[in-house]
Amino acid sequence: MKKTTLKDWAEEFIPLEKLDFVPRSFEIVGDIAIVEIPIEIEDYDKKIGDALLKVNTAIKVVLKKSGIHKGEFRTQDLIWIAGENRKETLYLENGIKLKVNPETVYFSPRLSTERAFLSEQVIANSRVLVMFSGCGPYTFNILKKQPNVKLIDSVEINPEGHKYALENLNLNRNLLKKSDKFKEKIENLKKEKKVINEKQIIEEINNEIIHFYCADIRKAMINELNGKKYDEIFMPLPKDAELFLDCAFSLGDKNCIVHMYDFLHENEFPHKSENAVIEAAKKVGFKVGILSTRKVGQYSPRKYRVCCDFKIL
Ligand SMILES: C[S@@+](CC[C@H](N)C(=O)[O-])C[C@H]1O[C@@H](n2cnc3c(N)ncnc32)[C@H](O)[C@@H]1O
Repeated sequence: MKKTTLKDWAEEFIPLEKLDFVPRSFEIVGDIAIVEIPIEIEDYDKKIGDALLKVNTAIKVVLKKSGIHKGEFRTQDLIWIAGENRKETLYLENGIKLKVNPETVYFSPRLSTERAFLSEQVIANSRVLVMFSGCGPYTFNILKKQPNVKLIDSVEINPEGHKYALENLNLNRNLLKKSDKFKEKIENLKKEKKVINEKQIIEEINNEIIHFYCADIRKAMINELNGKKYDEIFMPLPKDAELFLDCAFSLGDKNCIVHMYDFLHENEFPHKSENAVIEAAKKVGFKVGILSTRKVGQYSPRKYRVCCDFKIL
């Protein structure tokens, strides 16, 4: 019989009584597979890695999870076990390119549908802020779906995340070629019969519209973002976003839409996030309208990653 799953291959080297510990699923970021290997079969980790390379020939590297996402940067330790000896990869998502090292920068491919869903709703001419922007997945998804944003600022505290965001800006530099601004500039140059240097024009528009800042959002608020106001704010830090709601109230203009991520137990859904937003607003004298609180993925048994979408009134 043809071997198709990891378990099929594992039968060759893992004793029968331990076969049930073989992971049924694993995460793929670009050409890297990230697998959680239970302690009961950790002696076989290298063989499991080699087997994964056979299960899916697009996988070139296998990394083993060693602990959970932790610390301010929300990163996780990953141990190389098979394939090419590297941890950096190029990931394609919804028509954008993202270079990332999933050990040094938080990144989850599981959120790609959520990013596409929210990006589709961004309105033309919006001023957008992505707090906690990592290597830039929200930023570039938004630019792909709505190239006519007025501006998009992204703030990330992890210098590695910021470094990748800048590299990814380079990889996605042509997204704004679909913008009205780009088309207008080209039209005007044609009318004036001037030389058209597309590369230079796209560079100018990117510099005008897209800004990445490596900073703590609280510090950025009083430095780089001082005096700025936004129409839409993304807060993709489910563990702690709630603690930064005051920043959203300071930076959001009237009618600004905010997307705050959170982790909720099913008994707390959706009131806990919604109450946190309402209470935080009250504290700083603002009114809010809750638009929706959505489950965007399972975090652990009976616990969900959720997004509370609300409007600053
Ligand atoms: C859950 S990750 C999300 C990253 C990215 N938006 C994504 O979806 O892949 C949260 C990010 O927030 C960053 N972060 C945590 N605290 C921060 C702060 N006070 N200011 C700015 N960024 C922060 C972390 O370094 C991390 O990259």
